[in-house]
Amino acid sequence: MIRLTLAEVAGLTGGTLTGGDPATAVTGAVTLDSRTVAPADLFVAVAGERVDGHDFLAAAAAAGAVAALGSRPDPALPCVVVDDPVAALGRLAAGVHARLSAAGLTTLALTGSSGKTSTKDLLGQVLAAAGETVSPPGSYNNDIGLPLTVLSAGDTTRYLVLEMGARGVGHIARLCAVARPDIGVVLNVGSAHLGEFGSAEVIAQAKGELVEALPEGGTAVLNADDPRVLGMAPRTRARVVTTGRSPDADVRAVDVTLDDSARGRFTLVAGGEEHPVALQVVGEHQVANALSAAAAALAAGLAPADVAAALSTAGPRSRWRMEVGRRADGVTVVNDAYNANPESMRAALAALVGLPATRRIAVLGAMAELGPGATAEHERLGRDAAAAGIDLVVAVGPDAVGIADGAAAAGRRPGEESVLVPDRAAARQLMSEVLRPGDVVLVKASRSYGLELLAADLLEEGVPR
Ligand SMILES: Nc1ncnc2c1ncn2[C@@H]1O[C@H](COP(=O)(O)OP(=O)(O)OP(=O)(O)O)[C@@H](O)[C@H]1O
Ligand SMILES: [Mg+2]
Repeated sequence: MIRLTLAEVAGLTGGTLTGGDPATAVTGAVTLDSRTVAPADLFVAVAGERVDGHDFLAAAAAAGAVAALGSRPDPALPCVVVDDPVAALGRLAAGVHARLSAAGLTTLALTGSSGKTSTKDLLGQVLAAAGETVSPPGSYNNDIGLPLTVLSAGDTTRYLVLEMGARGVGHIARLCAVARPDIGVVLNVGSAHLGEFGSAEVIAQAKGELVEALPEGGTAVLNADDPRVLGMAPRTRARVVTTGRSPDADVRAVDVTLDDSARGRFTLVAGGEEHPVALQVVGEHQVANALSAAAAALAAGLAPADVAAALSTAGPRSRWRMEVGRRADGVTVVNDAYNANPESMRAALAALVGLPATRRIAVLGAMAELGPGATAEHERLGRDAAAAGIDLVVAVGPDAVGIADGAAAAGRRPGEESVLVPDRAAARQLMSEVLRPGDVVLVKASRSYGLELLAADLLEEGVPR
C-alpha cells in the first residue's frame, strides 16, 4: 500500500471525512476483515449478506485502524463516508493504480473460464524472479478482491498480477477501469457460469473486454488453441501474441510429455529460442496455463531462458487445486475441489488418468450454474469419466445424479462402479470401506458443495493413529 492521507482517501473516493484529521495517513493495508486489521490500516466497512462491517468499527479501532471507509459516520473511528463503500474501494484503487502506473508499475491481467488462479500463480512466481511482484494466492477476481489486490501494491512493486472474473457482460470492463492492464491474457472460453451468461458467444464477448481495454503499446496474449479466444484479436489495439501447441503460435510448447506424477514437460519455443520446461504443478492443462504465463512474462521483458527456469520451479500457491496428498497406507488423494465446470472436470479427470494407480476413483459433486443443459452435461461427464478409464465413479448429492447415470450408461456397474451417495458423510463412509493401497481418488465439485472437506477427511483417515 502506498501512503495516503485521509484527505487523499476522501478525494479519491469522493467521500466526506468525519471525525478525523485530514492529514492523518494510512500507511498499513486496506482490509475488509476486522479480525485482520493491523495498526495504520484503513478498514472498509461493507454490509454483506450475513454481517455488516459497520458493526465492527470499534474492533477495527481497537486493532489500530486509523480510519474507516463506510456508508455512515461512527464515533468509534474517523470515517470517510461514501454512498457505496465497494464502489468507493474501486475508485480508491483506481487512483492508486494510476499513480503507480505513472511511476512505472507493469500490470498484467488474466481472464478465462478456467485456470485464472493457476496461471496467475505461475506468472506471479515467474515475475517474482525478476522483480518485486504483487500476486496474492487465492482468487481475488471481483469488485472487492481486485481493488484490494491493487491496493496491496506499493512504491517498490515492479509487477502487479490481477485475476479478473466475470459473471456477466461489462464486469471485466469495470475491473479494467479500476486497473487498466498493460498486458492482458485470455486463457479460454468454456462453460463456467453458462447459466448466467446464456451462451458461449456471450462469455467470449465478456472475456474479450480485457483485450479491448489494453492500450496501443500493450500486449494481448491469446490462446491460439481456443478459436473463441483467437477470435478476440481484432478487438484490441494492442500487439497480439498467440500461445498454444500449433506451429503458428508465437509462444508454443513442443514435445509435450507428462512425467509419472502427471506433470508436464515440454520445450518452450519463443522468440527464436528453445528451452526445456519441467512443471511442478499437476495436470496436462497446466501446459496451456504455463504457455500463457510465459508469453505474459516475455511481454513484460523477461528473457525466455529465465522464464523457462522459473516455470520449472513454480509450485502450487492456492489451495484445493490439484493438491496431491499421499496417505501412509498408500492411497493418494487429489483435492481439486476448489470449483468445477465441464472443462475443469475433464482436465482433472485427464490428470487422474495420468497418475500411476492400481485403481482410479473419481468422487464428484455437481457442477453448479450450468443452466438448462445441466442434466445432459452431468451425464456426459459420467460417460466420459467411464470412457477415460475411471474404475469407480461416485456422484455426491442429488444434483450430481446425472454423473452416476452417465457412468452407468457407459458400462460401469450401477451400485458397484457407478454409485450415487446422498451427501459428503456417505461418500466418506463409502471411501473408508473401499479404499485400498495403490488407489488414487480425485475429489471435485463446484465450490458450494464443500468437497474440499471430504478430501481433507480422506487424507486424515490415512494418518496412522
Ligand atoms: N487451462 C485449463 N483448462 C481447463 N481446466 C483448467 C485449466 N486450468 C485449471 N483448470 C481446472 O480448473 C480448476 C480451477 O482452476 P483455477 O482456480 O485456476 O481457475 P479459475 O479460473 O481461477 O476459477 P474461478 O473462476 O473459480 O476463480 C482447477 O482445479 C483445474 O481443475
Ligand atoms: Mg480463480
